[in-house]
Amino acid sequence: MSHTQIAPAPARLNRSELAVPGSSPRFFEKAAAGDADIVFLDLEDAVAPDKKPEARQNVIEAIGDCDWGDKALSVRINGLDTPYMYRDVVDLLENCSERLDLIMIPKLGTAADVYTVDALVSQVELAMGRKKRVGFELIIETALGMQNITDIAAASPRNESLHFGAADYAASTRMRTVQIGGANPDYGVLTDPDESGRRDFHWADMWHYEITRMVVAARANGLRPCDGPFGDFRDAEAFAAHAKRAAVLGCDGKWAIHPSQIGLANDIFTPPADEVGKARAIIAAMKESEAAGAGAAALDGKLIDYASIRQAEHLVTMADAIAAKG
Ligand code: GLV
Ligand code: MG
Repeated sequence: MSHTQIAPAPARLNRSELAVPGSSPRFFEKAAAGDADIVFLDLEDAVAPDKKPEARQNVIEAIGDCDWGDKALSVRINGLDTPYMYRDVVDLLENCSERLDLIMIPKLGTAADVYTVDALVSQVELAMGRKKRVGFELIIETALGMQNITDIAAASPRNESLHFGAADYAASTRMRTVQIGGANPDYGVLTDPDESGRRDFHWADMWHYEITRMVVAARANGLRPCDGPFGDFRDAEAFAAHAKRAAVLGCDGKWAIHPSQIGLANDIFTPPADEVGKARAIIAAMKESEAAGAGAAALDGKLIDYASIRQAEHLVTMADAIAAKG
């Protein structure tokens, strides 16, 4: 390991993160009673401009009034390029209960954007004598944000997680899609012809670079990486495929833009029982091998060593945290 030590963000489950428009209070109770690990009440892109003040009021009331159980509770504020952001922060933190855990900041472009929100949040927290320090969820969804992702991830001790917003990112980079996430039949590879001249076309993951880049920036700074929305909520199979590849690449979870996606995300980002079993067996085998004076061992015909322990420990820690939640 490097001499540079990375302090991890506060441990939270983030398998599913449910988006709920702040202008639709009829959804709040159901969201509060549901199974999402984190709920974010949205003041940004799911809320029409003339509904912003009303949405703020709804959200402030709901934070204190609904029973959110053991979920983490977040509010997505508006971006720094809008006339709404300062009032989102000030109204929210001057008036909402201490139940609020996180603020989600969209469309971050630079570390200074995080610093600006941090300064404002810190002032209101101090002025109001708030006891709980609110954490930050940071959405990377612009070309500028992706370019500066490393600095953004390190910009504040409040930072807890990075999120990839495929819809705004596609708009910002002019990727050719009008969907929220998902695949594109034009993005793939054509195989060379075989003896009979047959060629296959394999669709590929057009978001691979972005997810991987986010995972690296997040983990290098002790943050949780979380994949963002998948818009076609009727297509559970495609949601599951996207969630699985995000899980394999190291994400802790994925957004749910519809309640039907919560259970899928929770299942997919829960380490599978057989993998956890294998992880526990690796830890046990390595302990045995260490006791016998060896650094590496064989388990089921495969080499394992101390790196295997580190892989296994992450799985076991996550499985234990999920089991503790019940
Ligand atoms: C999320 O905010 C997105 O733009 O995908
Ligand atoms: Mg967005």
